[in-house]
Amino acid sequence: MLTLLTAMYLVVRAAYAQAEPIRVLVTGAAGQIAYSLLFSIAKGDVFGKDQPIILVLLDIPPMLPVLDGVVMELQDCALPLLREVIPTDKVEVGFKDLDAAILVGSMPRKEGMERKDLLKANVAIFKTQGAALDKYAKKTVKVLVVGNPANTNCLIASKSAPSIPKENFSCLTRLDHNRARSQVAMRAGVSSDKVKNVIIWGNHSSTQYPDVHHATVSLSGKEVPAYEAVKNDSWLRGDFISTVQQRGAAVIKARKLSSAMSAAKAICDHMRDIWFGTPDGEFVSMGVYSTGNSYGISDDLMYSFPVTIKNKTWQVVNALPINDFSRAKMDTTAAELIEERDTALTFLSA
Ligand SMILES: NC(=O)c1ccc[n+]([C@@H]2O[C@H](COP(=O)([O-])OP(=O)(O)OC[C@H]3O[C@@H](n4cnc5c(N)ncnc54)[C@H](O)[C@@H]3O)[C@@H](O)[C@H]2O)c1
Ligand SMILES: *[C@@H]1O[C@H](CO)[C@@H](O)[C@H](O)[C@H]1NC(C)=O
Ligand SMILES: *[C@@H]1O[C@H](CO)[C@@H](O)[C@H](O)[C@H]1NC(C)=O
Ligand SMILES: *[C@@H]1O[C@H](CO)[C@@H](O)[C@H](O)[C@H]1NC(C)=O
Ligand SMILES: *[C@@H]1O[C@H](CO)[C@@H](O)[C@H](O)[C@H]1NC(C)=O
Repeated sequence: MLTLLTAMYLVVRAAYAQAEPIRVLVTGAAGQIAYSLLFSIAKGDVFGKDQPIILVLLDIPPMLPVLDGVVMELQDCALPLLREVIPTDKVEVGFKDLDAAILVGSMPRKEGMERKDLLKANVAIFKTQGAALDKYAKKTVKVLVVGNPANTNCLIASKSAPSIPKENFSCLTRLDHNRARSQVAMRAGVSSDKVKNVIIWGNHSSTQYPDVHHATVSLSGKEVPAYEAVKNDSWLRGDFISTVQQRGAAVIKARKLSSAMSAAKAICDHMRDIWFGTPDGEFVSMGVYSTGNSYGISDDLMYSFPVTIKNKTWQVVNALPINDFSRAKMDTTAAELIEERDTALTFLSA
């Protein structure tokens, strides 16, 4: 009996050891978020400790020398799961046979650049990358868009990849979600894992609505509504919301650089949840394709909703009661996304 179990164990272990590597693309790979992100991915924090990885690093041609430095450092980490690193500036190389794509690179706002011109430049980038996903990636690829304006870039990429299900595209609002979670935890005097089910609604911008009406805090083993645990309604309805909404700007002001460590952590959380699912009884925030069937939000937007994930498939958590305070804020951020989408679509068809 014992030898049979030992034999079975060895077979299972051998099967794991020989697991096929997955191909994971990170764009903007020479940038500061990628610098914090690549190590976590390559050491198994996202796709599992038994999953070998081929990392594909895409950036623009002038950044190729920098990318070589990143490749050297990844090699120097001597990570057993990292089977190959492929730096490139070509989409046909970068998007080939992908299992996961993390699109971090985008056009940054330059001094004096009009918002419309910035959006136009980003539509061009995400149209090209969407088309490349459509042509070269696996049809089951999971795509996470981080580069701003993340929601609209994600929509453009998905529209440019008609052969890949829209459900396989999402954009990052997990950083905002984590910020909200941590703010509540600090106020309630607990660690952040004791706070569950905060929600970020809408756009990843200052109109986003961080909502804790459905959040709970675990106090000495008892689940208590966040409003009860924090005991300060005016803070939750005021400074809490604006702190989360303005956090990105506050980090830039202090650091003279945008959030990178926390953004990378949020990317890992988001992708790991897609891969392995959300814990029972918990939901997370993700920008996903709105079909018009959830919370009266217009269809054809990438809007951040509360979702649960099972078997690599997300579902919006429906039927949470929404009060008037929340309703108005959810609609304001939706209106912003509709306006941005409509402008972006004129560039897409041009
Ligand atoms: N959604 C979120 O929560 C969130 C949070 C933080 C940052 N962001 C956004 O993430 C993006 C990256 O931030 P960062 O701090 O790493 O910026 P960064 O400027 O340090 O790096 C961006 C990299 O992208 C590259 N790049 C530009 N266009 C590209 C293209 N077409 N293909 C491939 N690579 C391209 C640049 O060359 C650069 O190396 C920014 O748009 C930022 O606003 C989003
Ligand atoms: C939506 O959020 C993104 C990311 O912060 C921002 O760049 C964009 O301007 C916002 N959209 C609008 C219409 O304000
Ligand atoms: C609630 O929070 C606000 C803002 O941080 C603070 O000024 C106020 O004293 C708090 N009220 C209570 C009752 O703790
Ligand atoms: C999980 O998803 C795959 C692919 O969509 C599907 O074939 C499979 O039946 C699903 N498994 C479960 C348990 O739902
Ligand atoms: C991605 O698409 C596949 C079908 O190709 C589907 O089975 C899977 O559930 C989708 N993933 C997500 C995250 O929705």
